[in-house]
Amino acid sequence: MPKKLKVTLLIYFLLSAAVVTKAQEPLITDIPARKTVSLDGKWAYIMDPYETGFYDYRYKELAPDNPNAYWNSDQPQGKYGRKEFGYDTARYSLHVPGDWNSQDPKFLYYEGSVWYKKTFDYNKSDPSNRLFLYFGAVNYRADVYLNGRKLGMHKGGFTPFNFEIPDSLLKKKGNSLVVHVNNNRSVNEVPTVNYDWWNYGGITRSVKLVEVPHAFIRDFFIHLKRPAAGQAPDSKNAETTGWIKFAGDYRGPVIVEIPELNFKKVFQTNGRSKVPVSFTLQDVQFWSPKNPKRYRVVISAGKDRVEDKIGFRTIEAHGQQVLLNGKRLFMRGIAIHEEIPQEGRRAHSKKDALQLLGWAKELNCNMVRLAHYPHNENMIRAADSLGVLVWSEIPVYWTIDFGNKAVYEKAKQQLTEMITRDRNRANVIIWSVGNETPVSPKRTNFMHNLITEARKLDPTRMVSAALEVNYNSGKAVNLIDDPLGKYVDLVAFNEYLGWYGSTPDECRTTNWDTPYDKPLFISETGAGAKGGFHSKDRAMWSEEYQEWYYKEQLAMLKRMPAKFSGISPWILADFRSPKRNNPVYQEGWNRKGLISSDGKKKKAFFILKAFYDKIEANGGMFKN
Ligand code: GCU
Repeated sequence: MPKKLKVTLLIYFLLSAAVVTKAQEPLITDIPARKTVSLDGKWAYIMDPYETGFYDYRYKELAPDNPNAYWNSDQPQGKYGRKEFGYDTARYSLHVPGDWNSQDPKFLYYEGSVWYKKTFDYNKSDPSNRLFLYFGAVNYRADVYLNGRKLGMHKGGFTPFNFEIPDSLLKKKGNSLVVHVNNNRSVNEVPTVNYDWWNYGGITRSVKLVEVPHAFIRDFFIHLKRPAAGQAPDSKNAETTGWIKFAGDYRGPVIVEIPELNFKKVFQTNGRSKVPVSFTLQDVQFWSPKNPKRYRVVISAGKDRVEDKIGFRTIEAHGQQVLLNGKRLFMRGIAIHEEIPQEGRRAHSKKDALQLLGWAKELNCNMVRLAHYPHNENMIRAADSLGVLVWSEIPVYWTIDFGNKAVYEKAKQQLTEMITRDRNRANVIIWSVGNETPVSPKRTNFMHNLITEARKLDPTRMVSAALEVNYNSGKAVNLIDDPLGKYVDLVAFNEYLGWYGSTPDECRTTNWDTPYDKPLFISETGAGAKGGFHSKDRAMWSEEYQEWYYKEQLAMLKRMPAKFSGISPWILADFRSPKRNNPVYQEGWNRKGLISSDGKKKKAFFILKAFYDKIEANGGMFKN
């Protein structure tokens, strides 16, 4: 082939690849309110542990048009065409949304790549509209191809992302959507290689096509203006503020309506892509756990119109107290992993959310700590409607590579995606930037930067993290004097006194405090028990041992300092973990659940419930 032609072809392929492989695109929010088509259901798959569909035999990434690449057609060309891969939905399919581990025994411990393929037809309702592909989450890395061309790549297993589908790629019939998913753990990812939960891989949340006008409302944030420190917001005249962001060049009126409050106000973009809004609402019912009141907020601009159900409330750490709508709040929490224990699978649906939250409500919780990563949007929205407060967290967990700038950018990206998706949910009151990270100057700097970033993205909520305890305080008090405590709003810590070392009676002579003049929160405490194993002498792993643990732990709380503002014991239900290998009591499950892996309540469940019932009967306050 003449050299000139070779160069021309190379330039063409580089340009065509570049045209659609975009960097991370800004997130479109309020997806439930938009014109969408679901791509959920059966997808064909190819299990590819050696990355044969991605690299050539010299392990170099295959060129975009290489016929052996798994994003290209799997149909042999001509009489002697040869293909050594193929998508056969009838024999090899996975359900989306859903982890692959729970769908076929061969996937239970699988870590590697799986190629997913879905074919769809699409006809835009208006040719001038734009079309996006939206993923609720893919764990961990996703390379997305449409009709043989790469749309983009996303890393991060628990947050949404979207890519635009250019008209040049979209077909009316037979669009081939291929997603390369890889869930290998790695030292410079977030989380890193070592964590106490199952590495569920796959397209674990819903996939949707989102059609929007050429210029559209991409994101918005509407919330009460925070009153003076320590003050309650005024429900008669509730000052409200926020912004509305546009994609595409929209110039003109922006209308905000809240019909139930007979509110309507017109703003002008004046050429801005981010339009500040502020207004006063009369006679507002504030959102609270007892009255999770939400209002239909409708925003119209040009051809676009979105609406969302938004609760109005204020939350702040003021001195040593947490104030919700200016009143002291005590958080009766429980920690939850995103898992349906009876089926050993990732939770993703509204039905899954209602099961987990139903258990939390039975415990008489007013709060859940969604560990250790952002849960699916169904969970957040269901909790919002049920009046359940949420601690939401990014998986900066244990020994992250804190000296690596690229790792920081990954953590910051996940923090941004988490906050962007959920900042209009009144029930989310805490953004957590991590869990049990070992103290070092690099780590404290890394986490402090994330805290600063969280406050930039959302100045209306508390920021926290599960901090380290100084067990060498030397006195009868274990101090939470982690240097990161200087930067958080809520000083939170995990303790397992009576499980990891010692026995529960040691709680009788142990006290806790923090030198920080801030609210104090126990973000984890718990003990393991194999559901159904009973022992009259409270043998380790019996339900009676776990019950004893809770009795001693809860009695200890009477000596907590006045700044004690809540607790979220570890954990609502048993969950899968490859780190838990006692052949009799664990078998790959962490047994600290108050509910067993077959969905049965253990004795300790009722100890915590009685404790929370008493607090609620006491006007929601915990008397020290
Ligand atoms: C840690 C950690 C949890 C873990 C728990 C346990 O505190 O934060 O993720 O599951 O302890 O040991 O069970």
